[in-house]
Amino acid sequence: MSTLKVLMIGDLVGPAGVKMFEKHIASLKKQYKADVIIVNGENSADNGRGITPTIADHLFDIGVNVITTGNHIWAQSKIFGYIVTQPNLLRPANYPSKCPGSGSTIISVGSYKVGVINLQGRVFMREYLDDPFRVIDSLLTYMKTQTDIIFVDFHAETTAETAGIGLFLDGRVSAVVGTHTHVQTADARVLPGGTAFMTDLGMGGSLNSMIGMKKDIMLHHLRTQMPVRFEVDLEPPYVMSGACIDVDTQTGQSLKIEPIRIVDNQGLF
Ligand SMILES: [Fe+2]
Ligand SMILES: [Fe+2]
Repeated sequence: MSTLKVLMIGDLVGPAGVKMFEKHIASLKKQYKADVIIVNGENSADNGRGITPTIADHLFDIGVNVITTGNHIWAQSKIFGYIVTQPNLLRPANYPSKCPGSGSTIISVGSYKVGVINLQGRVFMREYLDDPFRVIDSLLTYMKTQTDIIFVDFHAETTAETAGIGLFLDGRVSAVVGTHTHVQTADARVLPGGTAFMTDLGMGGSLNSMIGMKKDIMLHHLRTQMPVRFEVDLEPPYVMSGACIDVDTQTGQSLKIEPIRIVDNQGLF
């Protein structure tokens, strides 16, 4: 039996998240002997909203295999044209089919095919999206003819909806992990059918921020309900979080999921 090791990293928020990733990804890859790196880049632009072609290219250059996203995917308009040319930058698969880009990809890793699917939840999210359960059912009809090694990033607000997708897909995909809340959960485990599951990977960015943004501005907004412009927090310490998943390449089932959380007290700027 051979094992494929996959690093999945949660939402990188602004330059703090991107720089944390740059600083630590090589040693993480070595430590976990990772074969594949999947990162959520929906907040990686300088202002924490969306992703630019330059940042996407940079993440691919430093070893990322697939970038997943979520509700902030369209925040930087330059990405509209880029996503059509880059099949490994995903937008959620249950966005309207006329949206540019794709919600799934299959990459080659050595002699293996690895599928990655990005979906967005609907509970407490603003976008009116297709049913993620129905969409992934039909996506898997094709993808399972190509490979059983399949990773799902479910970008969602509520823990219950993510648990629902995880349990719905148990035994059919290698892993279901959540993103979007930016808060890492302590429930990583392999479900009975062999699907690795974790409700949220957490984020990369300034640790004592509010989900990566400067706390003073967000607190002002919460306390007054006045409109504000959120700003990315660049202050140390920083965090980067995610998980490493070991998959049996014969069956596509996961053997292990190990949460990752790095805290770095040194300045990055
Ligand atoms: Fe996010
Ligand atoms: Fe999000």
